Amino acid sequence: MTAQSKFLRVFEGEVFDAPPVWFMRQAGRYLPEYRALRAKAGSFLDLCFNPELASEVTLQPIRRFDLDAAILFADILLIPHALGGNLRFVEGEGPRLDPVKDLQTVEQFRDRDILSALAPVFETVAKTRAGLAADKALIGFAGAPWTVATYMLAGGPMKDPAALRKLFYQDRALIDALIDVLTDHTIGYLEAQIAAGADAVQLFDSWAGGLPWPVLDAVSVRPLDRIARAIKKNHPDLSVILFPKGVGEKSVEYALLQGCDGLGIDYAMDPAWARANLSDRVVVQGGLDPLLTVSGGAEMENNARALLKLFHDVPYVFNLGHGFTPETPPENVARLVEIVRGRG
Ligand code: CP3
Repeated sequence: MTAQSKFLRVFEGEVFDAPPVWFMRQAGRYLPEYRALRAKAGSFLDLCFNPELASEVTLQPIRRFDLDAAILFADILLIPHALGGNLRFVEGEGPRLDPVKDLQTVEQFRDRDILSALAPVFETVAKTRAGLAADKALIGFAGAPWTVATYMLAGGPMKDPAALRKLFYQDRALIDALIDVLTDHTIGYLEAQIAAGADAVQLFDSWAGGLPWPVLDAVSVRPLDRIARAIKKNHPDLSVILFPKGVGEKSVEYALLQGCDGLGIDYAMDPAWARANLSDRVVVQGGLDPLLTVSGGAEMENNARALLKLFHDVPYVFNLGHGFTPETPPENVARLVEIVRGRG
């Protein structure tokens, strides 16, 4: 059966003159309508757990830019929050969690029912799907176990990657248990998003970069393989997109995974290398440096056209190589969409 949305059809192998387009962090602080709604909701977490407002925020960039896919408005740290991590967002400092220190704490996570606590997220998915046209896809998502684990172990954004690498060598049992527990919960969480109406899912491994191969294999590739296979077992036609940021040529290892349908490429990767080494196995997505959308102009347009040209004869999803930053002028995004649609 041919899917109705351009985004999903790319995963069936279709090639378009103008590829489908969506953007990481397409809902967020660079949009005045987001800032207004966020002020009304109170905190960022209040917004994530308010299905009415969260689905409205999810739809805002679709209305403004007519993008081909919406991404659920939520956060990768909602799983640790539901596990009792006491998530809070400190203004100007980013997320904070109570740090996980020992195996005993991790073992207590195993039987935790996180799906009840996260029920509003699934309601957001259902509401958003109901509010989207049939030709628009809804992408569900979760953080990859490793990236989520870095926040849980460091109690916030990882400031010292060497400390976590050392921990991997010194206390492998703790790392293995945490990754294992997060892998199981992530499968359940994504399954529930799919049951509520998500058309595809993406896993964000934002902190996969800079790891030696045996570590990367253990904490990122293997767990993502397990998640992708679990999802494909129940939903063979549902597309799974992986975004292991910063892994360079090791991205081939993800593209080889049986359950991997799409692979996000970050702004540091050479897109010509990705075209030559990844496009024969998966749908490549993204690549444009989000900072180009801050300045806009010819530099942004030329870089976007280069990506379109490079991937013109293979299934490809236009996107960024990481999320928009709050200072991106929305006009530049509108212009970028014109370029992708071949109207610029
Ligand atoms: O539009 C979308 O992309 C959907 C929603 C989404 C958010 N976060 C909303 C958000 C998604 C997919 C994420 C993923 C996410 N969250 C990642 C992986 C992708 C990446 O950026 O690497 C990570 C690492 C997080 C953790 C996180 N959430 C951080 C580090 C921060 C604080 C930094 C910041 O930008 O303020 C957040 C907060 C957050 N998540 C915001 C949004 C819109 C800003 C919150 C606000 O309104 O103040």
